[in-house]
Amino acid sequence: MRVLVLGGDGYLGWPTAMHFSARGDEVAIVDNFAKRQWELEEGIEPLAAIPPLHRRVRRWKEISGNDIALMVGDLCNHRFVYKVIREFKPDAIVHYGEQPSAPYSMQDRTTAVYTQTNNIEGTMNVLFAMRAHCPDAHLVKLGTMGEYGTPNIDIEEGWLELEHNGRKDRVLFPKRPGSFYHLSKVHDSANIEFTCRIWDMRATDLNQGVVYGIETDQTVLHPDLETSFHYDDVFGTVLNRFLVQAAIGCPLTVYGKGGQTRGFLNIKDTIQCVALAVDNPADRGDFRVFNQFTEQFSVLQLAEMVVAAAKRNGQDTQIDHLENPRVELEDHYYNAKHSKLVDLGLRPNLLTEAVLDAMYQTVCRHVDFVDRNVMNPRIQWSSEKADR
Ligand SMILES: NC(=O)c1ccc[n+]([C@@H]2O[C@H](COP(=O)([O-])OP(=O)(O)OC[C@H]3O[C@@H](n4cnc5c(N)ncnc54)[C@H](O)[C@@H]3O)[C@@H](O)[C@H]2O)c1
Repeated sequence: MRVLVLGGDGYLGWPTAMHFSARGDEVAIVDNFAKRQWELEEGIEPLAAIPPLHRRVRRWKEISGNDIALMVGDLCNHRFVYKVIREFKPDAIVHYGEQPSAPYSMQDRTTAVYTQTNNIEGTMNVLFAMRAHCPDAHLVKLGTMGEYGTPNIDIEEGWLELEHNGRKDRVLFPKRPGSFYHLSKVHDSANIEFTCRIWDMRATDLNQGVVYGIETDQTVLHPDLETSFHYDDVFGTVLNRFLVQAAIGCPLTVYGKGGQTRGFLNIKDTIQCVALAVDNPADRGDFRVFNQFTEQFSVLQLAEMVVAAAKRNGQDTQIDHLENPRVELEDHYYNAKHSKLVDLGLRPNLLTEAVLDAMYQTVCRHVDFVDRNVMNPRIQWSSEKADR
């Protein structure tokens, strides 16, 4: 297959590109390195330095014998997007190329508007270019479980069967997200569903939970092939941050009571799920939604699991409850369905003690590079950052 990975320099995009390339697909990556710019803006960096994408691609060729084509450009430049899609003619497009951080989007007007412009306009350009040059291709778009918020009813996979005043219909599940970033994904979903319905496109929206993990089958082949691992308050996901805090003997920072419950998955399962979606494409006209996570945990539960992992590895650490910088329920009902990917064959890599211990030990090998100044929350949901 010809697989185009948008955002292929990122945490998930790079291992995904290598995965498809390793199994013999023809792979091209698009990225404009925006993430590297945001890192500079925020004064943060991944736990281990990540080489330029050109070097990663060359190293991959050396190790695997396979080429990955590299197309540097901005998804918000429609001429560039049309050209890429016209020339590469993908069978599947895996779209990771967005601003992925809720705190980043909540800093101020500029970052909120940027997040929505970047994400929504980029996706619109992809949809229009697909209609023009590859209307039969399958769009596999990364959304997030955060689109749903925390409703007091079970969360279905994208669609809800509804009965109202004696009549029935199937509607998109009502969304109540918690940040301008999550809202950008809601708007993307609405736009993609519209093009499936009106233009007969085919798309799978993967509403992904919070990803943790460092290694995939390909990233371990050479240090140049590692993927980025963020632990800071802006781009770091919660389990990754807890592991780093434990490794340096700092208290784990739980926001508020820590009862916030979310879906989680291993980065290896992100890749498995995306491959399952690509290999089992949606039908023409079908806007398919899968909830992509394997387990639910509360933030406090995760913190306790990391404290135990650190203890098993000889490190005593504790939990600090910080005032919650976000506006969110800390005690709520949460039951999200996630069976469609399992039905397609997903075999989850669960968060066992062995997995946690292995991640903890990997993080410990990098403790000298940890910046202790970037883990406490600097962005408040209810006020703009003071310095902008
Ligand atoms: N990591 C998670 O836990 C998680 C959870 C749910 C959903 N997601 C979604 O998965 C996707 C990938 O997440 P990630 O953690 O790998 O993020 P990431 O920031 O590491 O990767 C995103 C990549 O997209 C690129 N990009 C952004 N805007 C672009 C544009 N306009 N043109 C070209 N390239 C652009 C960035 O430079 C970056 O390399 C995102 O859409 C994110 O919202 C991630």
